[in-house]
Amino acid sequence: MAASNPVLITGAGGVGRSVLEKLRARDVPVRVMVRRDDDRAAQLQALGAEVVLGDLTRPETVAVALEGVRSMYFAMPVSPDHLLAATTVASVAREYGGLDALVDMSQMTVSQMTATSTAESRQQRLHWLAEQVFDWSGLPMVHIRPTSFLDNPLFTTLPAQTIPKRGTIELPFGTGRTSPIAVDDVARVVATVLHEPAPHAGHVYELTGPRTVDMTEMAEAFSKVLGRPISYVDVPLEQWRNEVLSTIGLPSHIEQHIVTMCRLHQQNRYDRASDAVERLTGVPASTIEDFVAARKDFYLA
Ligand SMILES: NC(=O)c1ccc[n+]([C@@H]2O[C@H](COP(=O)([O-])OP(=O)(O)OC[C@H]3O[C@@H](n4cnc5c(N)ncnc54)[C@H](OP(=O)(O)O)[C@@H]3O)[C@@H](O)[C@H]2O)c1
Repeated sequence: MAASNPVLITGAGGVGRSVLEKLRARDVPVRVMVRRDDDRAAQLQALGAEVVLGDLTRPETVAVALEGVRSMYFAMPVSPDHLLAATTVASVAREYGGLDALVDMSQMTVSQMTATSTAESRQQRLHWLAEQVFDWSGLPMVHIRPTSFLDNPLFTTLPAQTIPKRGTIELPFGTGRTSPIAVDDVARVVATVLHEPAPHAGHVYELTGPRTVDMTEMAEAFSKVLGRPISYVDVPLEQWRNEVLSTIGLPSHIEQHIVTMCRLHQQNRYDRASDAVERLTGVPASTIEDFVAARKDFYLA
């Protein structure tokens, strides 16, 4: 990739912003697409990005953002528009014809799905279909399939409410095992691929934290780092949905996705481990203990 060709980052939320920081630390030119020229756009610019206005569901804006770009990161939030955005990007990038890599933020659940499976959420089906469209496009795809993020509110905002009050982590995960991964580790992989895309085109990377734990073991890890007794309370799923989730007022697409994540945890579908973070970046994924230790005040406030 020529030094002057910018990397395009779209969906610059949790992962994308961290990818931007990592690429700028290596002096790689970065262009970021945002929907609004607001304070967040100014912050991205202050981090060294060229900021362009656009929308992943509007092809004419994707075409402008792609000019001169050789590698692109595609991400959307959990959204019913996911497949529309992916198809828009695939068709515009195909016509553009200049990409060495298109990095797709997908989900690990896709690895366990088939064309006809029905246990997954609508969002997980959209990721599965988007991967199909991207692969049919013939573009040099790299699918990133992380398991649940450690930064997800399930492991951050919610425990930060119950730990100070009751010394508990209260979730409807049953005895299922899980191996959540820090956003920072996902971003390290994405930045590595975007920086030197050639060896990665055509690959699927499944990303997890370094080990699987059940929620009792996760509570023990929190307890060790925060220096106080913390136990796991297995809340019945319907009760948790009514008493916790529905009080947040999320759009139904997101709520259905979170309830499905919980059900799949109960069914032990998140019991999976991969060493891909270390293999691809040379540094192992953060442990739960590392993650919590960096956020002690947040969890105990
Ligand atoms: N959270 C998890 O545990 C987890 C685990 C595995 C995979 N994932 C996947 O990760 C993805 C989310 O990644 P993330 O957490 O890094 O992102 P994020 O924080 O949700 O941010 C996504 C960004 O996309 C922007 N956006 C929304 N609609 C857009 C559009 N039409 N065109 C252009 N930009 C648009 C949003 O900006 P606005 O401010 O304009 O809305 C936001 O900045 C999802 O696909 C999810 O399925 C998440």
